[in-house]
Amino acid sequence: MSRLEGLRVLVTGAAGGMGRSHCERLADEGASVIALDVVQAKSELEETAQAVRERGGVAVTGVADIRDFEDLAAVVADCVAEVGGLDVVVANAGVYDTPGPSWTVDPAVWNRSLDVNLTGAWHTVKACVPHFGDGGSVVLVSSTAGIKGIAGASHYSAAKHAVVGLARTLANELGAEGIRVNSVHPGSVRTPMIINERVFANLCPDIENPTEADAAAVLSARNLLPVPWVDPVDVSNAVLFLASAESRYMTGCQLVVDAGLTQKV
Ligand SMILES: NC(=O)c1ccc[n+]([C@@H]2O[C@H](COP(=O)([O-])OP(=O)(O)OC[C@H]3O[C@@H](n4cnc5c(N)ncnc54)[C@H](O)[C@@H]3O)[C@@H](O)[C@H]2O)c1
Repeated sequence: MSRLEGLRVLVTGAAGGMGRSHCERLADEGASVIALDVVQAKSELEETAQAVRERGGVAVTGVADIRDFEDLAAVVADCVAEVGGLDVVVANAGVYDTPGPSWTVDPAVWNRSLDVNLTGAWHTVKACVPHFGDGGSVVLVSSTAGIKGIAGASHYSAAKHAVVGLARTLANELGAEGIRVNSVHPGSVRTPMIINERVFANLCPDIENPTEADAAAVLSARNLLPVPWVDPVDVSNAVLFLASAESRYMTGCQLVVDAGLTQKV
């Protein structure tokens, strides 16, 4: 028996990176998938839906910016009606803007980080919870930056810490309804969010035009296990566990997938 047979899941930020991987992995285990992303990512979103269908799963796509609650709630309602209900929400969409010391961060960068990473997660839950039936699982994607401070990323780290506060509060509010709320904390993950020249340059300030290999050496040194990053599917496996009944008595927990980054001294 598949681990999510008969369940309907909604994933934000589903057009690529980890979001696509979550959709694929959850579909592998029998879930019907609502894949949501912003309008700029519409064609990639269709590729995610196609990947789900190739696995034999049902896929419905929705286009909305999670910063716009009214729009998001309307899109969620339409998609949920199409799949016939909702059992699992994965608030995955996020952004990682230009890093720099806290006192130099541009207010627009600060606001975008808080708006997408924190308020967007809150909007997602707010739009989805009314559609839950008997019980459910909410997974909020935070980061190791939601557990420890990351120099140069105050806008991101503050938002991702706040996501933990949101998850813990929701766990208290929704426990009596049988709805569990947990957060997932990836370390470095091999997605477009960090595999790009801007992040390489930030990781390797002393190297002119640093490559992926240069960045990998820096990131490897931060982990206990001998890898620079984990793959999206490693995080999707944690999401799958929290979505499934295998974690039925876990709520208000933080599940870390970081190759030991947060434990390294
Ligand atoms: N990649 C990493 O190393 C890493 C590490 C820890 C945590 N995370 C977190 O994991 C999650 C997924 O990250 P990723 O690496 O797959 O990133 P990504 O940049 O590859 O994908 C992010 C997705 O979110 C979507 N998105 C962005 N803003 C949106 C908005 N306003 N409304 C709707 N969708 C929006 C994008 O279109 C994109 O499809 C994020 O919350 C991120 O902060 C990533």
